[in-house]
Amino acid sequence: MKVSALVPLAALCSPLLVACQEEAAAAYAPTLGACPEGVSLIRNAGSGSRQTLSADEYVYISGREEKVLPDAWRFYLDTVTESVRDLVDMPAYVSEILDGSYGYSGYPRFGIATSGGGYRAAIFGAGVLNALDGRNTSSLKAGTGGLLQSATYLAGLSGGNLLVTSLAQANFPTFSDLIFGSSDENVNSWGGWNAEIDLLDVSTNATVDEDYLIQLVEEIVGKYEMGFPVTICDVWARTLSRHFVNGTNLEDFSNPDLTHGAGVTFSSIATVDSFVNYEQPFPIIVIDSLSPNGNASNILNQSGLAVPLTNPIYEVNAYEMGSFDPMLSAFTPTKYLGSPGNGECATGFDQLSFIQGLSSNEFNLYNTSASALQASPIGPILEVFEAIIPESGIDLTVGLVPNPFYGQSPETYIDSNETLLQLVDGGEDGEVVPFLPLLVKAREVEVIFAIDAAADTEENWADGSSIISTQDRVAFFPNSYSFPPVPPLQATFLAEGLTKRPTFFGCSSTVASGDPLVIYLANGGPPLGQPAMTNTSTDQFTYYADELDGMLSQAFDVATQGIADGTKDAEWAACLACAVVDRARRREGIARSGVCESCLDRYCWD
Ligand SMILES: *[C@@H]1O[C@H](CO)[C@@H](O)[C@H](O)[C@H]1NC(C)=O
Ligand SMILES: *[C@@H]1O[C@H](CO)[C@@H](O)[C@H](O)[C@H]1NC(C)=O
Ligand SMILES: *[C@@H]1O[C@H](CO)[C@@H](O)[C@H](O)[C@H]1NC(C)=O
Ligand SMILES: *[C@@H]1O[C@H](CO)[C@@H](O)[C@H](O)[C@H]1NC(C)=O
Ligand SMILES: *[C@@H]1O[C@H](CO)[C@@H](O)[C@H](O)[C@H]1NC(C)=O
Ligand SMILES: *[C@@H]1O[C@H](CO)[C@@H](O)[C@H](O)[C@H]1NC(C)=O
Ligand SMILES: *[C@@H]1O[C@H](CO)[C@@H](O)[C@H](O)[C@H]1NC(C)=O
Ligand SMILES: *[C@@H]1O[C@H](CO)[C@@H](O)[C@H](O)[C@H]1NC(C)=O
Repeated sequence: MKVSALVPLAALCSPLLVACQEEAAAAYAPTLGACPEGVSLIRNAGSGSRQTLSADEYVYISGREEKVLPDAWRFYLDTVTESVRDLVDMPAYVSEILDGSYGYSGYPRFGIATSGGGYRAAIFGAGVLNALDGRNTSSLKAGTGGLLQSATYLAGLSGGNLLVTSLAQANFPTFSDLIFGSSDENVNSWGGWNAEIDLLDVSTNATVDEDYLIQLVEEIVGKYEMGFPVTICDVWARTLSRHFVNGTNLEDFSNPDLTHGAGVTFSSIATVDSFVNYEQPFPIIVIDSLSPNGNASNILNQSGLAVPLTNPIYEVNAYEMGSFDPMLSAFTPTKYLGSPGNGECATGFDQLSFIQGLSSNEFNLYNTSASALQASPIGPILEVFEAIIPESGIDLTVGLVPNPFYGQSPETYIDSNETLLQLVDGGEDGEVVPFLPLLVKAREVEVIFAIDAAADTEENWADGSSIISTQDRVAFFPNSYSFPPVPPLQATFLAEGLTKRPTFFGCSSTVASGDPLVIYLANGGPPLGQPAMTNTSTDQFTYYADELDGMLSQAFDVATQGIADGTKDAEWAACLACAVVDRARRREGIARSGVCESCLDRYCWD
């Protein structure tokens, strides 16, 4: 890697520029230094029964299991019991499992995956998570509140990654505070999604818009000057930072004296209070690789997909970046991502906004012919780029990361010889719901609540494509992952209405299969009797409060209504609890009974 002497940033502020983002540029730039004693840049994660989690993750999960989950499950149990009290008796085993009668290992190991699909998916996912949030009185009344607090893991990609990471770094606020911000005077605190300001097109005045893009590009100059590759993904990162990272609210959105989240790293999530106290589900995000060495015949034949199912898929958590896929099965510390190696370590490469950008980077899908580019959202950025970082050969498609796994597993890892990883949106292989991190055997997740807000149909509804893709990918790696059978065709999802009501997969899987039970909740249509609001276009980058409220409220209804015989299911909260404990029930050798039997008949697909 070229490490040029750091040019004083002021020298880069040409008279052309409106405001020089010196401080932000310095904060966004990684620094290089000798690796601290004892730091290893590669962890082999093993395979089969020898597969391991990082020691830090293991400590987090154990801490959460001991200090947080017993109370969380009991709270959830009380919530469900109270909400269905006059309606049904829950089987005794549900209470026994959730009140800890079987010890720490007797609780369900529960994870949540929230899909991509741009802002729409972030909003729909937030509405569903709000319905599972034990802090919201409406959710308690519905009998679904408390499940979020009981989850061990929370995975996101693309739009879902914006939701999961903004939530984690903002110290796990309520969803209303997450989206609309809270009144905190500290400029480095959480200011809300600022969704009424477009992600790229910030005003109706072309000069103002261009100035904004210039600011974004200026902020990546420090990274470039440190010799790190910068691409369109870094520019994207800097605008995401003003919406999904601490440090910007509506009032100070255009203040050029603020760093707007530059300097906040992904690894710093581990320093946030609610994380330190194990009070958050462990957040994980997914990124795809657009390797030049992929097997193109494994690209699914659907529009918008560019990544073969057989390419390695990466995850990032507060501690590690890497892949449990068998062809690599290795990790590097998130904190030292971007390190050149040979004893030299980078810090600050893992900017939160950059990682958010990687997981949601779809620029490779644009038409990159010169004339098409000019007409696309990239057009103005391109001009700004050329003016500020001349002759740098800026890549307008992928995000680039110095390959931490260079030289690893040369027989199986297709990017072993690549010095840079070419990274794109985590859904570009077709798996828009981030199941993968939750299928990692060492994580022992048994029940997955999957939120699917992909725009598969012409009207921007989900049709099961994403979960089918996961089934297809798992088939390539049968020794590494297990997934319950789902219908192989979208037509079946639509014909059987599986996207229009909650559906459970894996109810009759055997123990030997290792399949988790999947609680699938899709954005497949509006709640019963309401006009459609949650199927906005993936390209919509601006949302006003009214529209947000409408969508959040519909997502809440979708998550809390259940559907039986075409009408709202009064027993839904009980049915959800039955699904959540079903694997734990099986482990204890207890037979399904009572309302749980009829519930599973109703919601299970087989
Ligand atoms: C609780 O959820 C309801 C339903 O979506 C919503 O209207 C309300 O604002 C939420 N309350 C808080 C404090 O977030
Ligand atoms: C973001 O701000 C919140 C307060 O709004 C704070 O609790 C949290 O620690 C901050 N996150 C980071 C990564 O600094
Ligand atoms: C656009 O913004 C620029 C810079 O703030 C300002 O000078 C100009 O008058 C604005 N143009 C219009 C049409 O409002
Ligand atoms: C690419 O994938 C196809 C389909 O899975 C397989 O038949 C073929 O052998 C693969 N090619 C290489 C070079 O691995
Ligand atoms: C992709 O799908 C289209 C439309 O169904 C079909 O015409 C085409 O043959 C398919 N291509 C491949 C490689 O399967
Ligand atoms: C890309 O855009 C150019 C110019 O607008 C057009 O001629 C070409 O057909 C487009 N290519 C694709 C693959 O859409
Ligand atoms: C990497 O390069 C070495 C030496 O040129 C070669 O033997 C090996 O097959 C290459 N590996 C991959 C995965 O391309
Ligand atoms: C949303 O769905 C409704 C009903 O299915 C449809 O009429 C409408 O066009 C869709 N909106 C968008 C933006 O696709």
